[in-house]
Amino acid sequence: MTMLALLLPSLLAVQALGALEVQVPEVPVVALHGMDTTLNCTFSGVTTFNLSDISVFWQLSDTKRSVHSYMGGQDQLTEQDGRFANRTSMFPDQLTRGNASLLLRKVRVVDEGSYTCFVRVVDYSSAALILQVAARYTVPEVMWDTGSNPRPGDEVALTCLAYRGYPEAEVYWQDGTGRNLTDNVTISQVANDEGLFNVRSVLTVTLEPNSTYTCRLTNQLIGQESHASVIISAQSMVFPPVALWVTVGLAVCLLGLLIALAAVCGRKIKESCEEMKAAKEAKELEEDESKTAMTPLKNQS
Ligand SMILES: *[C@@H]1O[C@H](CO)[C@@H](O)[C@H](O)[C@H]1NC(C)=O
Ligand SMILES: *[C@@H]1O[C@H](CO)[C@@H](O)[C@H](O)[C@H]1NC(C)=O
Ligand SMILES: *[C@@H]1O[C@H](CO)[C@@H](O)[C@H](O)[C@H]1NC(C)=O
Ligand SMILES: *[C@@H]1O[C@H](CO)[C@@H](O)[C@H](O)[C@H]1NC(C)=O
Ligand SMILES: *[C@@H]1O[C@H](CO)[C@@H](O)[C@H](O)[C@H]1NC(C)=O
Ligand SMILES: *[C@@H]1O[C@H](CO)[C@@H](O)[C@H](O)[C@H]1NC(C)=O
Ligand SMILES: *[C@@H]1O[C@H](CO)[C@@H](O)[C@H](O)[C@H]1NC(C)=O
Repeated sequence: MTMLALLLPSLLAVQALGALEVQVPEVPVVALHGMDTTLNCTFSGVTTFNLSDISVFWQLSDTKRSVHSYMGGQDQLTEQDGRFANRTSMFPDQLTRGNASLLLRKVRVVDEGSYTCFVRVVDYSSAALILQVAARYTVPEVMWDTGSNPRPGDEVALTCLAYRGYPEAEVYWQDGTGRNLTDNVTISQVANDEGLFNVRSVLTVTLEPNSTYTCRLTNQLIGQESHASVIISAQSMVFPPVALWVTVGLAVCLLGLLIALAAVCGRKIKESCEEMKAAKEAKELEEDESKTAMTPLKNQS
């Protein structure tokens, strides 16, 4: 009994019960480009220990480069790979609860890969997780090569553009009935300096009257589905929204101009009428005056 009581302080300090076990997510962790993510890593098999007795090493699984290290009760970042500088944190207050997770800030495409979480408290163990990066594409837009309005019968290259997504998108074209148009389609996905893809798909078609051409884009990893369409009307005219609004705008301007012109003209006409009226009145007055001037003469006679 006495012996046990004397031993208690050291038992509290380090108490390894059975084998240390490290757990990480089994499915890939998907993080959005530019956002922060937590790489979860928990361990069990140790109940009580002193913080200065635990070591945690986060490494890139393939190159063994250091992502973040914690040892002797503090972060050890001298060996840290430069590209993780200022972007990682652990949660020391969570370590005693068996949580050795790593916060990774401002995730980039190059961060994709396998990460190993290595934990040592007397015993040691490790586990690896996969980090996948994702980015939403911009809503696609459809354009055509000719400056003029395409008409039914024209052979036109319709271009579908979407930007800064990850990973590569699935892009396909459909007509108004939902039929896939797979002939005469070319697609290119080019990575920018951040590793994000700009997608360009070109469909060459002979335009059918009264039909719709839809470009559909899917980013499977994050379940993004978006689309853009062009409508070829029976009146053999295509109005892309911009051209439509420009036309409406011009029509409104023209109408405004006409109204202003009408108002100005109306006033001018009214003014000249009044001038004429005034002139007429003046003349009548003159005549009246000459009449009255004559009357006394009559009276005098
Ligand atoms: C990390 O674990 C917490 C708690 O179990 C959970 O809510 C969170 O979704 C996990 N994060 C990731 C990226 O798996
Ligand atoms: C570990 O702790 C951090 C910070 O509190 C938390 O965000 C994360 O979800 C925790 N992970 C697990 C697996 O509990
Ligand atoms: C942890 O260990 C350090 C150094 O060995 C010691 O100074 C400290 O008192 C210990 N803390 C606890 C809670 O046992
Ligand atoms: C990390 O932060 C320190 C201090 O804020 C700064 O001096 C250093 O340039 C930063 N390093 C990187 C790679 O951003
Ligand atoms: C059209 O093609 C896409 C991509 O290949 C596919 O997911 C979709 O099910 C197809 N739709 C039809 C109606 O065939
Ligand atoms: C594909 O292009 C060829 C040559 O320009 C043309 O003969 C053919 O009709 C086109 N196919 C479709 C489905 O538009
Ligand atoms: C065009 O489409 C409209 C509505 O879908 C339909 O009412 C009209 O009959 C069609 N015209 C031609 C020429 O196919």
